[in-house]
Amino acid sequence: MAILKIARMGHPVLLRRADPVPDPTAPEIRKLAMDMLETMEDAGGAGLAAPQVHVPLRMFVFRVSPSRVTGDPCDVPLGNAVVINPVVEPIEGDVRLRWEGCLSIPGLRAAVPRPWRIRYQGYDLEGNLRGDEVCGFHAGVVQHEYDHLDGILYPMRMTDFTQFGFSEELARAAEAAEAERREAGR
Ligand code: NI
Repeated sequence: MAILKIARMGHPVLLRRADPVPDPTAPEIRKLAMDMLETMEDAGGAGLAAPQVHVPLRMFVFRVSPSRVTGDPCDVPLGNAVVINPVVEPIEGDVRLRWEGCLSIPGLRAAVPRPWRIRYQGYDLEGNLRGDEVCGFHAGVVQHEYDHLDGILYPMRMTDFTQFGFSEELARAAEAAEAERREAGR
């Protein structure tokens, strides 16, 4: 296993449409998936798409930590998962703002509008087609990673640029607002 170099916003590999994986069961695809999982864990991310490690193929890895889910029953926690040649279908209706970060846009976070609920499917490393209907954080991560396969970064999905900033500043502002609320409540 190896930790791979992550492309940052501005690199052209992040803007092109990635190509289908010819054989999800190929040994080099398994090796790439394992390296991507190790890279995601090392960087502390919730997801990582192949174009982010300079490989323009339609696959991504992700995880849904039980500490990140929203409490909606369709927001299902999931251990390390590999999704190859995915299809993602938003379920019409509910679109909500969710805070997102990206390993290719380090240090920043933004509120991004996303369909709350989606259906998705893709191949695993054994060549089995797997799918699920999910919502919330799980659905947000899948949509974010899927976008990478089409050369889309989260700022391209944003509608309100006042909710975009450095994670450190946003955390500081949230803390200050919380302190003010506590003070006012006395
Ligand atoms: Ni990303």
